[in-house]
This record gives sequence, structure tokens and C-alpha cells, in this order.
Amino acid sequence: MAASLVFRLHDRGPELVREVLLERGWEEYDKRHRHDEDWNLYWRASLFHKSDYYNLMPWQRLNHHPKTVGITRKDYLTRNLRRMRTTFGSGVYDFSPVAFILPNDYIRFLAEYNRQRMSPGLPVHWICKPVDLSRGRGIFIFEDIKDLVYDSTVIVQRYISNPLLISGYKFDLRIYVCVKSFNPLTVYIHQEGLVRFATEKYQLSHLGNLYSHLTNTSINKFSPFYKTEKGKVGQGCKWTMSKFRHFLHCQEVNELILWQRINNIVTLTLLAIAPSVPHCPNCVELLGFDILIDVKLKPWLLEVNYSPALTLDCQADIAVKKGLISDLIDLMNYRWVDRFRDRAYKRKLHKCLKVNRSSYVSMPALTNVKCSTQKVKEKKQSQTSKHNFRSEQRQRSSSASGQSGRLHQDFPF
Ligand SMILES: Nc1ncnc2c1ncn2[C@@H]1O[C@H](COP(=O)(O)OP(=O)(O)O)[C@@H](O)[C@H]1O
Ligand SMILES: [Mg+2]
Repeated sequence: MAASLVFRLHDRGPELVREVLLERGWEEYDKRHRHDEDWNLYWRASLFHKSDYYNLMPWQRLNHHPKTVGITRKDYLTRNLRRMRTTFGSGVYDFSPVAFILPNDYIRFLAEYNRQRMSPGLPVHWICKPVDLSRGRGIFIFEDIKDLVYDSTVIVQRYISNPLLISGYKFDLRIYVCVKSFNPLTVYIHQEGLVRFATEKYQLSHLGNLYSHLTNTSINKFSPFYKTEKGKVGQGCKWTMSKFRHFLHCQEVNELILWQRINNIVTLTLLAIAPSVPHCPNCVELLGFDILIDVKLKPWLLEVNYSPALTLDCQADIAVKKGLISDLIDLMNYRWVDRFRDRAYKRKLHKCLKVNRSSYVSMPALTNVKCSTQKVKEKKQSQTSKHNFRSEQRQRSSSASGQSGRLHQDFPF
């Protein structure tokens, strides 16, 4: 009899992952009763240690690729996108607002600030964000440089002051992206996602009102207007992406171009680090892309989140995140053979397995165990498994593989 699949959570969370896996019949790892290697999935919100990657067994998966911090920290993202813009041109890499890392780029920022001040037209606004904080912490918006005060490394980014509004409220999109491989780049964009609203009407004259300018739920759930009806937005501060799509449809907006642009943003951003991410076939990465849409329907990349929040604050969260995690587990492609991990190391197969570490399916010793009825079951399962990660983009990274870059997108989500 093969054992159940086993998951291991660092720091006892996230609860949603536990819930989804238990519902799927997995067991939770308990180090008092299990061998060190007796697990199939290790999930942690923070970084894994290098040794976690080196010691991976063929039946084990991790929920992070190594070295993705190159896009998930605001200053690294700024630097990497700047490098890509220099290499491939601002015609392609035109989706992130101009940004400066302070204090290092202070002189450059000053030059740009003065250039904007001198040019005719509407005044330009800037947003200052600490590089290593999240959830809207430490963020402020300013117009005059005398209001720029910081005591840690920050990025100062051009503020997109003409966002698309719904009933006068600002919003941004949380796009969930699963990277199965960086080389070749294999990416799935979840068709569901979240639309996150500010809870006070957008007013450029009140730059200090974070309930009007920031769309983070962690801020807006404390707004006095969180529970009140806010025009078409309704109560609370979140919609599902389906609801947003329906809304666009009713407004007769041609959303196809919008989703294509968002797909491009995701791919081009990931390409900035793809060549530098070590090959790790047993890893997946779930990223949260924050995208703001302006009045001209142009999407802008604000940041990329490592370990996007999996807390369930409202109905929209429940509708989106449970399916998201379930689909992610499907994408990890666990097979019957992964349940034989206990037999594998008990039979002292370690040595043989370590040689084959890069591909867990090519282990004859284990694959032979699979009986034919199970094969039929698996086939049926894979046929019926419904992935909401519908948009797969593959890119052979030119610099990593030596082949010329070819972008292939199946369809927008
Ligand atoms: N350049 C920008 N223009 C307009 N709004 C922005 C900009 N950058 C951030 N915001 C607003 O601030 C919020 C928080 O910024 P973000 O970069 O996502 O940092 P955090 O890690 O704190 O979430 C965004 O969700 C968005 O509402
Ligand atoms: Mg954010």
C-alpha cells in the first residue's frame, strides 16, 4: 500500500494551503513521527535555504524557485527592468513607471524632477515606497521635493495620477502567476484574480489620504467606509476578476488588448531574471503581480509579490484563492509514484535517486511499482482536471540556452 502524500508547512501556515491539501487527502508532516525526507511538498512564505535545494529528493517539491528576489524586491525590480529597457528598448519595456532607488539615484531623480517641473502641462506626482516593506506600509505620495523624507532605502516612482476609476474609486489588479520553470520559461496566469479598491473617492488634491490613493486591503479594511455601499463597487474593497471582466464587457470595453498587454508584462518581467535562476525542476513559484490600469486602459506594473497573501478576508478571497491553490497543486503534477517515497529511502535507493534527481519520472525502480489500474485512474484524472491556469507562455531564454528568443502566447486569460 502506498502512503498518502505529505505536506510540510513552515511556521504552521498558510492555513489555506493546509485546508486545501487536507481536503485532497494529504497528510501533514510531523517531525516526531516522520523521517526527515518523508514529505512531498514543503511550503514556506519566506526564502528556502540553499541546502533545501541541494538535498531535494525526486518526490519532493518546493514552493519557491531560488533567486526570484530579482523581481520581488522593489529596488531589484527597478534595476532589472531598467537594464532590460536599456538592452531591449523603451518601446518594449514601457510598462513600469519611471523609478529611482534612493539614496543612490538621488542626483538622477533630482534631474528628472527638475525636468518635469520645467515642462509645461499638469504637475507630476511621485510615490515613495520602502524597498523591503509590503502592504502599503511606509508609502506616501508627494508633489514637492521638500516633502520627500526617508530614512531607509526607498524607491521613488512616478505616480500614475490618471488611474481608471469605477464610481470614482481607484483600483488595481492582483494577477496570480505560477512559474513552473524559468528555463524554458513556462508560465501560467490564473484566470481568476482580485480587483482591489480604495475605499474613498480618488482626489489628487488630498495626497495624504491613503484610503483614496492606496488599494491595499491591509489598509482599506480599516477605512470607515469599508462596509458602506460605494456606488458600483459595493461594500468592502474587493472584486473577483470575473466580476471585473463582466463589468468591462457591460461597458463595451475591448478587454482583449488589455489582457494581452498584461500577459506581455508578466512575460517580459520574468525574462528579466530567467537566465539567472538556477534550474530546479521540482520547484514552482506563485507570484502576485500588482497592475494598475490608467484611463487610456494601459496597464502598469507596480510590483511583484513573493508569497502573495493567502488570507481569506472576504467572499472574493474565498472564491479566488481556494481554487488558485488547488490548481497550483494540480500543476505540480504529483503522481502515484510520489507516494512511494518511504519505500524509496527505506530500500536505500538514495544513491540511485540522487543521480536522477533532476527528473523524478525517470526512475525505473519506482515507476515499475505503478500498477496498470492506477495508470488508468491517473489518465482519467489528468483528463478531467480543470486548470484555471489557462494561459501558458513558453519562452526559451536566449541567454540561458543559446537559442534565439521566441515568444509564444496561447491566449489571454
Ligand atoms: N506608481 C504608482 N502610481 C499609482 N499608484 C501606485 C503606484 N505605486 C503604488 N501605487 C498604489 O500603492 C499601492 C501599494 O503599492 P505597492 O507598490 O503595491 O507596494 P506594497 O508592497 O506596499 O503593496 C498599490 O496597490 C497602488 O494602489
Ligand atoms: Mg502591492
